[in-house]
Amino acid sequence: MKRLLVLTGGGDCPGLNAVIAAIVKRAAQEKEWEIVGSIESFNGVLKDPAEVVILDTKNVAGILVKGGTILGTTNKGGPFAYPSLNNDGSWTTVDRSEEMIRRLQYMGITGVINIGGDGSLRISKALADKGLNVINVPKTIDNDLSSTDYTFGFQTAVQIATESVDKLVTTAESHNRVFILEVMGRDAGWIALNSAIAGGADVCIIPEMPYDIEKIKQKIDSRYQKGRGFCIIVIAEGAASIEGKKIGAVSNEIGYENFMFGGIGWVLKQELIAAGVKHDIRVTLLGHLQRGGTPIAYDRVLASEFGVAAFELALNGQWGRMVAYRHPDVTSVSIEQALAQPHLVDKDSRLVRTAKGLGIEFGD
Ligand code: F6P
Repeated sequence: MKRLLVLTGGGDCPGLNAVIAAIVKRAAQEKEWEIVGSIESFNGVLKDPAEVVILDTKNVAGILVKGGTILGTTNKGGPFAYPSLNNDGSWTTVDRSEEMIRRLQYMGITGVINIGGDGSLRISKALADKGLNVINVPKTIDNDLSSTDYTFGFQTAVQIATESVDKLVTTAESHNRVFILEVMGRDAGWIALNSAIAGGADVCIIPEMPYDIEKIKQKIDSRYQKGRGFCIIVIAEGAASIEGKKIGAVSNEIGYENFMFGGIGWVLKQELIAAGVKHDIRVTLLGHLQRGGTPIAYDRVLASEFGVAAFELALNGQWGRMVAYRHPDVTSVSIEQALAQPHLVDKDSRLVRTAKGLGIEFGD
């Protein structure tokens, strides 16, 4: 019997359960494979007693449509930096990677399918360097991995952001207001750019194109030329003005290393007031609503394709790979290649040109 460990790491994302279900359903067609899930990423393996569950077609029935992950997840720590409490109440991190590999051997694990974003890829790379058989599945609403055209979860986030723009339009129009919608994406502007185009926003501000506040003000003015008017601004959380800096906070959560973006929308409001905008301005931070709920059909399909492809990589002994979507194929790349560079918006790209062709102002 060959045993495959499946886990979800990093922030959750719509479509994780669809990947898990696809792996299990595909494995059920092979006689000698068993799928085991680790609860809360690699932590399940490192806990005493271990928190791992056997996954079969019965316990994945119906999960395809559910958001979140039945296995739980974490974006803190990991086997190389496992949070540990000192006697004096302070925290430190411990490298438990060797111990974890030994535990996996003891459990009879043939290989691991790690479903996650760039952080999970880095952990997989380090584990692969230590000899572990590992395959990655690219997940993130940010769509910031360069070796795949799309990560699953992204289109759901774009859909939610677009519906939010649609809703803000009606209230903005009624009150002649400027609305600022702050969306997620970390250093990538994909959610902002796509939802700005799909929702017909007037301004789109992304991290890849630092903004000049005067240009944003001019665009707002042009929207109020006949006295009444309104303006919809979509801004990515990682954006900054030409002289500005990224807005957010360092987390005080144990083992959380990411910078917590959030608040550029409020900064933009103050900058617009300081620049002389007299219209009412309201700010909406969409936050984790973009990650919650059921995946749209596109992400269910992509996640299912990734799950089947990931299992087949394991079946064929092709370890050290990440499944990837390169239209029209689902293929794979080495984990190293997948990590080589982030996928960011190119300011000369077709999509940015389309947005500019629609009159959307970037402030660049
Ligand atoms: O990477 C996905 C993402 O949703 C980002 O867009 C966002 O900045 C971050 O995760 C939020 O992380 P957390 O769930 O830890 O607040």
